[in-house]
Amino acid sequence: MKSNDTNRREFLTRFVGLGAALTLPRSLVDGGGELTGKAAAAHRTHPAPGAPSTPANTHSIQEALPTREIPGTGERLPIVGFGSSKPVLEIPTEGTEPLEAVLATLLEQGGRVVDTSPRTEEIDREFGQVLTQPRFRDSLFLAAKVNTEGEEAGIAQMRQSQRLFGRPTLDLLQVESLRDLDVHWPNVRAWKDSGEARYIGVTVSAYRNFERLEAFMRSESFDFVHVNYSVMEPLAEERILPLAQDLGMAVLTNRPFMNGSYFGRVAPHTLPEWAADFDCESWAQFSLKYVLSHPAVTCALTETSNPVHLVENMHSALGRLPDEATKGRMRELVSTF
Ligand SMILES: NC(=O)c1ccc[n+]([C@@H]2O[C@H](COP(=O)([O-])OP(=O)(O)OC[C@H]3O[C@@H](n4cnc5c(N)ncnc54)[C@H](OP(=O)(O)O)[C@@H]3O)[C@@H](O)[C@H]2O)c1
Repeated sequence: MKSNDTNRREFLTRFVGLGAALTLPRSLVDGGGELTGKAAAAHRTHPAPGAPSTPANTHSIQEALPTREIPGTGERLPIVGFGSSKPVLEIPTEGTEPLEAVLATLLEQGGRVVDTSPRTEEIDREFGQVLTQPRFRDSLFLAAKVNTEGEEAGIAQMRQSQRLFGRPTLDLLQVESLRDLDVHWPNVRAWKDSGEARYIGVTVSAYRNFERLEAFMRSESFDFVHVNYSVMEPLAEERILPLAQDLGMAVLTNRPFMNGSYFGRVAPHTLPEWAADFDCESWAQFSLKYVLSHPAVTCALTETSNPVHLVENMHSALGRLPDEATKGRMRELVSTF
């Protein structure tokens, strides 16, 4: 049997090409390694915002990041995306530089999907100024949301995202957490009909909304379902994910780290040795590889304001993913934490 390192090298050479593999964080190429080694290497491959590309960073893993198809249209999306909430909400205190750094890293690593949620006009104006920079404007798949009460307020949110994000056509328009769904849905659908949204869908991020979500999936036809799913919150795999597959809906996932509380629970524990069998190098990758191994998942969103974390998260898509038996073992392990 081949060693894990040999498998990893073969994978990188086959899918990435040796030149590109050489620009990846060393821990990924060599196996093992601590986050510090990976972090240092990730810093080497990711230029500061606005910095010119060097020969090293022009060889990104762009061609290697796996993609999955949006059912029905054939359009493909990279399987790890970016939930923008944290760095966007930090704009008033931190400015836009951290946000620009993670967006630049996302593109450099072959990602494209950015999830957004309406914020104050001041914040979304600054966010929009970033999104409309030439390096980001035509490269991102932008998901927007409506999340307020009342029809007029809902339309105002949709128009704000469209206007401030410089997107006459939103890639995806979602009703967040099913809030005032009956009121917003006719307008969301009308935006798809008019071409102002390419795809439409709904989101949930808590188990309490699963029953309503399932009923809506069965009663309406739409493109994307966006749901919380992770190794510590696996319930979506029982009914929602198989239903999405049956109905031909694309799936975005949120809360891979339960908004950060996952890391508090795994912190006292050592990553099991058997995680190396599916090329997993950290607790972050442990949850993300669990999510990505489900065939219904089109793209797993991860939220961060740290480019090094984003690289670590995106590299979850590389190498092997756990099989069903291993997923059972993973669930069992974290259920004791
Ligand atoms: N109803 C909805 O529509 C809904 C609800 C919730 C979420 N979402 C979407 O899903 C996205 C993600 O879900 P979430 O909000 O629950 O966040 P999450 O991705 O589960 O967790 C984010 C937290 O994890 C930390 N983190 C990320 N990568 C890390 C790494 N490799 N190592 C250590 N810490 C790491 C981040 O801190 P650092 O900045 O320090 O990395 C942040 O505190 C959201 O941004 C949003 O787009 C949608």
